[in-house]
Amino acid sequence: MKSIAIIYGSSTENTKRAAEKIAERLSEYSPALVDIYDGDEGAFHANEVLILGVSTWGVKDLQDDWSDFYHKLEKMDLTGKTVALFGLGDSFIYPDSFVDAMGILYETVSERGATVVGEVSPEGYQFDFSRALKNGQFVGLPLDEDNDADLTDERIDKWVESLKKYLD
Ligand SMILES: Cc1cc2nc3c(=O)[nH]c(=O)nc-3n(C[C@H](O)[C@H](O)[C@H](O)COP(=O)(O)O)c2cc1C
Repeated sequence: MKSIAIIYGSSTENTKRAAEKIAERLSEYSPALVDIYDGDEGAFHANEVLILGVSTWGVKDLQDDWSDFYHKLEKMDLTGKTVALFGLGDSFIYPDSFVDAMGILYETVSERGATVVGEVSPEGYQFDFSRALKNGQFVGLPLDEDNDADLTDERIDKWVESLKKYLD
């Protein structure tokens, strides 16, 4: 079993709640649950699998605490790390930048040497553009608590199951 950290930044607790749900579903792995607000990069170094959660704010931008932490992330060596991403957004009000922040994290961790897993089909999502859509797939799990809250649990269940093959 690999060591896992679920690291999130959240302004109105939507990403936090999603992180807690993911942690519950992975309880057999005893994941560390880390709020990036604390600014501590220890969990990045101490764990083999990093599940990173971010919401999009300011239109197309990283959530504030991720923004504050970003100067550390962009210098990290993530070679050998497995990263899975989830992103919170609002596809109705922001259809042209839906979960863009997840795309920003994807680009950064990929450049830093991480292997990103857990892509998701865009089928069933309503949006016009997303920086998190690469080669026709989302680079991680998009969640929309503003419009599709009733789908969140099912989306998390399916995604977490798809990740398990990378965790043993
Ligand atoms: C001012 C503002 C800007 C936002 N910009 C975006 C955006 O560009 N793209 C998007 O998908 N969602 C955007 N959102 C929606 C949030 O990402 C969404 O509500 C999310 O669930 C918040 O998660 P959090 O509570 O974990 O921070 C924005 C929300 C606000 C209030």
